[in-house]
Amino acid sequence: MSETTRAGDPGRTLRAVQISSLGTYVPPRVLTNSQLEQMVDTSDEWILKRTGIRERHIADDDVATSDLAVEAARSALAGAGVTAADIGFLVVGTTTPDTFFPSTACLVQDRIGATRAWGFDLGAACSGFTYSVTTAMQMVASGAHDHALAIGADVMSRIIDYQDRTTCVIFGDGAGAVVVSPAADPELRILDFAHEVDGSGGPALRMPAGGSRLPASHDTVDQRLHYVHQDGAAVFKFAVRKTSEICHRILDRNGLRAADVDLFVSHQANRRIIKAAAGQLRLPEEKVVINIDRFGNTTGATIPLALADALADKRLKKGDLVLLASVGAGFTVGAMLVRWAY
Ligand code: UT7
Repeated sequence: MSETTRAGDPGRTLRAVQISSLGTYVPPRVLTNSQLEQMVDTSDEWILKRTGIRERHIADDDVATSDLAVEAARSALAGAGVTAADIGFLVVGTTTPDTFFPSTACLVQDRIGATRAWGFDLGAACSGFTYSVTTAMQMVASGAHDHALAIGADVMSRIIDYQDRTTCVIFGDGAGAVVVSPAADPELRILDFAHEVDGSGGPALRMPAGGSRLPASHDTVDQRLHYVHQDGAAVFKFAVRKTSEICHRILDRNGLRAADVDLFVSHQANRRIIKAAAGQLRLPEEKVVINIDRFGNTTGATIPLALADALADKRLKKGDLVLLASVGAGFTVGAMLVRWAY
């Protein structure tokens, strides 16, 4: 039976799906708070206190999102013990694609040699990773494909205004990728996902120009409209409220309590947001992964970068119940429950 026929079979039973491996990549160059002090009117003390960030990685001028994504994807493939040719589907959650078209997914597909894969880019800003994993999971659960790649990758430094102290201190560049496959042990799988959008929040976080609404012109460049514009306080409040709300919802409907969670891995936008949300969930500090100090907000890459640190520190182990959460521009909101498979 061809893959197309299998994928279209409406009576097909869903399969349990696991995250088989994780790969990450950050560009080597580091931008510290003290370097930012030389660029805008800010201070190491303010940045650390208000955001928790000490430094972030910044791509060189000739490096684009697909370059980071390819490195992360290759590392994830090696970890899963599958070849690029085994991948049937790939999705790249990104806000900073190399170009509008071709998609970054097409560039990655070609570079890694995923000769049998199809795929696309997914626009969900800081929820790019949770949404991408959910999408890839469906491809495997349905039986359409045996192995899929979900990538979150961004070169935020390309759309950040390094004259705007309210945004330039926050963001960094990076990528993370996971291979999702049928679960070897049905207990160790992605248990559930919960996603929402609230489009009424759009004005709070956006890049005003460059799309079909306001195409690039001398004016849009002069007015600095090709950069991230943010109402920080509005995003902050929404993020705290929604992170805890969606986490409560996904736990409740799985008959779980916060006490059952072994590790909480939230999007890393601001240490205060993560701490406030974790507090509302009554999660003790040792169950909360925070690595924003080293990477800043890498948009689609924060959750895989945090998972990678937790794996390296052995804070994340086979069988652990992991709660992922994200809030991003849109607004997009996401949560996933994963019984870690390796
Ligand atoms: O991934 C999703 C995307 N983004 C987010 O989740 C971000 C959510 N928001 C935040 O993380 C925080 O709102 C920020 C970090 C962006 C700002 O922190 P805040 O504590 O909300 O500060 P604020 O915007 O209320 O500003 C307080 C003061 C202001 O000065 P005045 O008006 O009180 O004199 C700002 O101008 O801090 C000033 N300020 C700075 N001072 C030094 C803003 N940015 C800076 C800076 N350095 N970099």
